[in-house]
Parts: sequence; C-alpha cells; structure tokens
Amino acid sequence: MPKPPNPIGKRRLKTLERVLSKAGLGSRTDARSWIGSGRVRVNGKVIRNPDHWVDMDRDRVTFDGRPLRPVARIYVLLYKPTGYLTTWSDPEGRPTVYDLTAGVGTWLSPVGRLDLDTSGLLVMTNDTDFAERLTNPDHQVPKTYQLKASTLLSDQQIEQLRRGVELSDGATRPALVKRLRESARYTHLELTLREGRNRQVRRMIEAVGSKVLKLVRTAIGPIRIGDLPIGQWRILTAKEVKSLGGPRNV
Ligand code: URA
Repeated sequence: MPKPPNPIGKRRLKTLERVLSKAGLGSRTDARSWIGSGRVRVNGKVIRNPDHWVDMDRDRVTFDGRPLRPVARIYVLLYKPTGYLTTWSDPEGRPTVYDLTAGVGTWLSPVGRLDLDTSGLLVMTNDTDFAERLTNPDHQVPKTYQLKASTLLSDQQIEQLRRGVELSDGATRPALVKRLRESARYTHLELTLREGRNRQVRRMIEAVGSKVLKLVRTAIGPIRIGDLPIGQWRILTAKEVKSLGGPRNV
C-alpha cells in the first residue's frame, strides 16, 4: 500500500494504525480492529479512525487505558518443520509456527510463508517495516531451497528452470539451479530464487513436468540453517539483520 502523504512537513506524524502496529502489539489488521472497537485513545479521546494522524512528539496514545511503550525490535530465525502452518491460528486446530515461538515472549509476524509441507528457514519479527520490505516482490533477497523431485530431471528441464518457466501469474525470473544428486528414480536440486510467489518452487517443478516430494528452505540471503535444530528458533545477530536489509542499530 502506498504511504499516505505526511501532511505537515517535518513533524513526526504517523497514522494511529501504524503507531499501534509499530508498538509491537499485533498486526496492522489487529490494530484496525482495536481502534474500531474503541480501545484506543489519543490525548484521552477515543479515536475510531485508523488513519487519524498522530504527532509522535506530542500526542499521548493509550491502549485499554495503558500508555504505549516503544518495544525493542526483535528478529527471530525459526527452523520450521513440516506440519506447521505459517498463520496465527487455524480453524482446524493444526499446529502453527506460533506454537514453536511462544517462548520469544512478544508478538511476531512471519516474513513471508512456508507451505504446511515445506520445512526450513523462516524469519519472524515485530518490525513491520522490515517485514513489509522483505516480502515486497521487488525486494531481491535470494532464497535457497533444496528439493526432491518425483522423477529424474533432464539437463533440458533444468535449463528451463534456470531461464524461467511460464506460471499462471507470469514467467519466473532467472534462477540458480544446481543438480545435487540423483538416485535411480529421483533428482535432488538446489534452487535459488530472487522472488517469492505462492508455492513458487512447487509450481516451477510442475511446469517442467515433475512434482516436488520434499522441499526445504536452506538459506535466506547469506543466512543458512547451520546447526539450528529443527523446530527451534534463535535471535538473528545485528549483522544478519543488516544483511537482509534491516536496520543497523538492532
Ligand atoms: N515455494 C514453495 O512451493 N513452497 C514454499 O513453501 C516455499 C517456496
């Protein structure tokens, strides 16, 4: 969504919705709903308009009567197992990545998604600006996947994946593709993409006439799984956050 214009020059103005989501209490959707239900006051007055401008240096915002406190930004790397959804809650009660990161102790938003049947690296953060930037399709942080295809793949099929294949939402950008190993019936590949569309790897492999049997995200930019055990998380270092285009002063 384009940023609303800052109407009054140099003053530090943010929309009320932004102020709440930046305070690390929840997503922007949560913030809109809390504002709409009258739980948020600016200078003592209930404001129900999420686009209300707040002067960060003068206005006092409270949520359920308590002043907002700035929270420390936090960046977590989770090694997601298969069988966990990348959503906050599931009507069918299946496990989610939040079951694995409850120990972090603060609200987090996943940066992009991994399918239920994909394992591997997932970044989660309460820094909504960072999350938005990293999930923007124009942002080109490379993501690396290892996969097992349901068939043997020829050099020609692999070349097609490298050059780009036609998907229902357009052609894919050139990708790095490495043949890792071959068994009697299956090819194992490593794919590095600079875009992140829905089920992209699975759809690319289907576009060349095969299927993905197993998919693991092994790297995001320079960050690799290393010795992080599956199902566990760790805090990203300031250097790692910076390498993904995040702020320097974490
Ligand atoms: N591509 C996919 O097909 N699935 C994922 O989970 C991630 C990338």
